[in-house]
Order: sequence, then structure tokens, then C-alpha cells
Amino acid sequence: MNPTCTTSSNNMAGAFITFEGIDGCGKSTQLRLLASELRVRGITVVTTREPGGTPLGQRLRAALLDVQEQVDPLAELLVFAADRAQHVRKHLRPSLAANQVVLSDRYADATVAYQGAGRGFAPELIQEIVQLATEGLRPDLTLLFDLSVAESAVRTRRRIESKRTDRLDIEDAEFHTRVRNGYVEIAKAEPARIKVIDARGSVQETHLAVMDIVMPFLEDRGLLGAEQSAKSKAPRGKRESSAN
Ligand SMILES: Nc1ncnc2c1ncn2[C@@H]1O[C@H](COP(=O)(O)OP(=O)(O)OP(=O)(O)O)[C@@H](O)[C@H]1O
Ligand SMILES: [Mg+2]
Repeated sequence: MNPTCTTSSNNMAGAFITFEGIDGCGKSTQLRLLASELRVRGITVVTTREPGGTPLGQRLRAALLDVQEQVDPLAELLVFAADRAQHVRKHLRPSLAANQVVLSDRYADATVAYQGAGRGFAPELIQEIVQLATEGLRPDLTLLFDLSVAESAVRTRRRIESKRTDRLDIEDAEFHTRVRNGYVEIAKAEPARIKVIDARGSVQETHLAVMDIVMPFLEDRGLLGAEQSAKSKAPRGKRESSAN
């Protein structure tokens, strides 16, 4: 499988880190923990998400995830792309140009996994639409939280019971299995960018796995001060953590 985009944001300042994985695998939980940990360390962080990372995107998100709406798969693909085009131009590129560390809850790999592997659109079409929407802006690092569909269903079931569900939550298990397998394929194709994290552990265990990847990455990019660089080399579990 081809990479989702052709050029990297490496020629821009800052760092672009995306969080991916099936619904309920723990992306948002881990993004919040990482953001607060980095802020404690004095690193300026921008947190965002897809869909919904801009004011226009928030309205598109509400329409896309509405349980009452019968969204045609092609319309779904194009609305996600519209959300992404707005996000890239109005938020992501300006934030990266301002030397920010940007953490995004989903990005282009989600289209490859959900609309490509999940809905069955041809890889070439997905590739073309992703390229159009992103203009080649590629994450510098992607964290893929891998969890079985059954285990993630246990986590999202609480949300469904509390009626905070969305349209993609109620797709069947086969759909989510295709999405998970799609993500695994993307990760195999781009091992340097995409780091697979076993998401079965506790919130804190998973957070430590995230830190073990992100701190050396930020150090390599020169985004940590000298003191933080020393901490990034400390063995796993020995670093202080502000997370609960
Ligand atoms: N490691 C974990 N162990 C047990 N429960 C967890 C873990 N991580 C997150 N959860 C819980 O699972 C649920 C889903 O987590 P979260 O919202 O972070 O997932 P998500 O990947 O962002 O889901 P979505 O794709 O639907 O937004 C939440 O109720 C969260 O508190
Ligand atoms: Mg989430």
C-alpha cells in the first residue's frame, strides 16, 4: 500500500503528531494525557481533531456523526475531505509554521482505514482525495492504538448506554474489523512514521508507551530543552509523570 501522502511536514517548523485507531481504543484519553504532560514540561502544544478541528469542521462533524442521518458513503468521504481541507489550510499549516507541536485526534490515515478498508472505496480514489485535501501535509509521527474490536466495544458500550453515541459507533463488528485491519496494513507500509501501540493496558501503561515514543522523537527534532532531553533518555517508568 502506498503512503497516504507524498510530502512530509518535515520542511516546516514544529511537529505534527496524529492519533489513530478504531473507535474506543483510547486516542482522546491518550492525547489529553500527552498534551498535559508536555505542557507541564513547558512545551507549547496545540490539540485538535478530525472531523471538527475548525468552526466549519464542527458543523460538518455534527452532520456526519448524527445518528438520525442516512449518510451516503461517497458523501461521507467528501465531507471528511472538506473538513480536512479546511483544517489543513486554516489550522494545521499555520500552527506548524508557528513552530507548535500539534496533536491531532485522527487525520488522513482514518480515511484510508474507514472509507478505504471499511467502506471499500478503491485505494487510488482514496489516495487522490487524501492528496487533494492535505496538499501533501503528512504527519511527522503517528501513534496507532491497536485494540481488538471486542475490547473497544466494551469501552464504547458505556458511551452508547449513556446515549453519547455517534453514527459510526453503531456500525457492525465486521466493519470495525476491516477498519482495524486497514490500520495495521497502513502501519506495515510506513513503519518509520507509524508506531503501533498495544492499547490493551491501563490508561497509565499506555501513556508510558506513548511517552517512550514521543519524547525521543521531540528530542530528535530539537524541540526539547537540555533538561528535558536528559529526562527523555531516562529508562521507561522512571520518569516523573503528572498523569493520573
Ligand atoms: N487503557 C484504558 N483502559 C480502560 N478504559 C479506557 C482506557 N483508555 C480509555 N478508556 C476508556 O474507554 C473509553 C474510550 O476512550 P477514548 O474516548 O479515549 O477512545 P477514543 O479512541 O478517543 O474513541 P473514539 O474514536 O470513539 O473517539 C472512555 O470511556 C475511556 O475512559
Ligand atoms: Mg475520541
